[in-house]
Formats: sequence, C-alpha cells, structure tokens
Amino acid sequence: MNQKSSQLDLENQENIAQSKIVAKNGHVKGIFITGATRGIGLSLAQIYLKQNYLVGTCARQTSEEAFTEFSEEIQNYRKNHKFFIYQADVRDLSSLQLALEQFTKLAKLEILVANAGIAFQQKKAWPQFKISHEIIDVNIHGLLNTFEAGLDIFKQQNFGHLVAMSSLAGYLGLPGVSAYAASKAFIRYYCESLSLDLSQHNIFVTSICPGYVKTNLTKKNGHYMPFLVSADKAA
Ligand SMILES: NC(=O)c1ccc[n+]([C@@H]2O[C@H](COP(=O)([O-])OP(=O)(O)OC[C@H]3O[C@@H](n4cnc5c(N)ncnc54)[C@H](OP(=O)(O)O)[C@@H]3O)[C@@H](O)[C@H]2O)c1
Repeated sequence: MNQKSSQLDLENQENIAQSKIVAKNGHVKGIFITGATRGIGLSLAQIYLKQNYLVGTCARQTSEEAFTEFSEEIQNYRKNHKFFIYQADVRDLSSLQLALEQFTKLAKLEILVANAGIAFQQKKAWPQFKISHEIIDVNIHGLLNTFEAGLDIFKQQNFGHLVAMSSLAGYLGLPGVSAYAASKAFIRYYCESLSLDLSQHNIFVTSICPGYVKTNLTKKNGHYMPFLVSADKAA
C-alpha cells in the first residue's frame, strides 16, 4: 500500500463531506472498481462518475506516468475529489482491505467491481505453467480477495452488489488461452452460485462477459479479433 497516496486521499475527506453528491437518502453513493486506471475499468469509472457516484479504484502502478489513458475529464474528477486511486494488488488481501477501509470513510460502498485481470496469449502449444499460475493468481485469487474484502463491508450494512469481470472466453476453450479461459469460467460459475447464496442477505452478485475489447490487454494479440469494440462501448 502506498501510504503517501492514501494520505493524500484522506486529506480530501473534508471536501467530500461537503460535496454536492449526497444521495437523496443521505449517503454518498460509492462504487469501487479494481483496475480502473485504464481499459474497461476506467470507462466504467467514467460512467459512474457522471452519475454522481464517488469512485474508488486500485492498481499496482499509481504513479502519474501510469495514467496515460486519463482524459482531462478524469483528471478533473480527481481534482474535485470524486475519483480516488489506491495502490493495492488484488493478490494481497490486506492491501485491498486497507484501500476499501479508506474509501468507505468517504462513501457508502454500494457496488464493488472485481475488474482487475491479466491475460497472456501463449504462442507455444506446450503450456507455460509459470504464466498459467500468474493468471490464476490475479484472476481467481484476486477475485476471491476482492469479494472477501467487500463482503466484510456488505455484511455490516446488509446490502451491496458484487460484480466480476468474466469474459466470453469463459464459455469455451480456445488455443493459447487455457488458463485465462479457465479463470473466466471459474468467475462465471462462482458468481452464479454465490448469487443464490447471498440474495437472502440482500447482496447481489453479477458476472459480466465482454467479447473482444480494444485495451492494453488485447494490444498484444496478433490474431483477428471479431466484433472488437472500444472500452467505452463495452462499459
Ligand atoms: N479487453 C478484453 O478484450 C476483455 C474481454 C473480456 C474480459 N476482459 C476482462 O476485463 C477486465 C479488464 O480488462 P482490460 O482489457 O480493461 O485490461 P487492462 O486495460 O490491461 O487493465 C487492467 C487493469 O487492471 C489492473 N491490474 C492488473 N493486475 C492487477 C493486480 N494484480 N492488482 C491490481 N490491479 C491490477 C491494471 O493496473 P496495473 O497493471 O497498474 O496493476 C489495470 O488498471 C479483465 O478482468 C479482463 O480479463 C477483457
């Protein structure tokens, strides 16, 4: 956890308390999206910012140089204390818990989106197990950590919406993406079961399955990507 960036965010609490985005029922609506420093997560963040949500995100890289996809509009949301960035790796439960703890001092967490994910297109037919382990660590263990951290909060407030980014790749096995496709299938089935368990607690669970989206993640794909859409369109 980057204490400096968290400190900066905490210093803005006063401004937030006085901000005009207090919802009708008296609380500041909050959504936390992991991995919203670029790609689909960033486009999603933009949509919720426009709907007067306070948006929090986390990523491994939180230096300004990493924010190459930030528009002027996004920078303004940051300046106006509506978009908060924490340094946390989804593989590390305690860093996520700390980020969420700080964010929920500013807003009521209504929605938590486990969006952070990685992919590798393996060029060799023989499996590269090191890469497969990395994908499982981020896409599966990272998701479990995100949900665990979020559910601690949702349980206390008796409501919340967990969302996870699966993929069309979770529906079928394709060459070169065995671990990625398997990780996305896990997310789909996990969310489906969890939604049955948690709806009685007023907690809702949704998985989203985008097709090909033009982001950093697909930039290195050397093959034709049918129905490729922009991140804004996907969000
Ligand atoms: N693009 C597609 O075609 C497509 C299609 C279907 C589903 N998806 C899914 O959609 C999600 C977003 O993908 P994207 O295309 O927007 O990817 P992207 O542009 O590469 O963005 C990924 C985001 O996740 C963060 N991230 C990666 N590993 C992390 C970790 N260990 N801890 C915290 N943050 C981490 C990245 O920041 P840092 O690198 O700084 O940590 C970045 O903010 C992924 O789950 C992906 O599998 C994408």
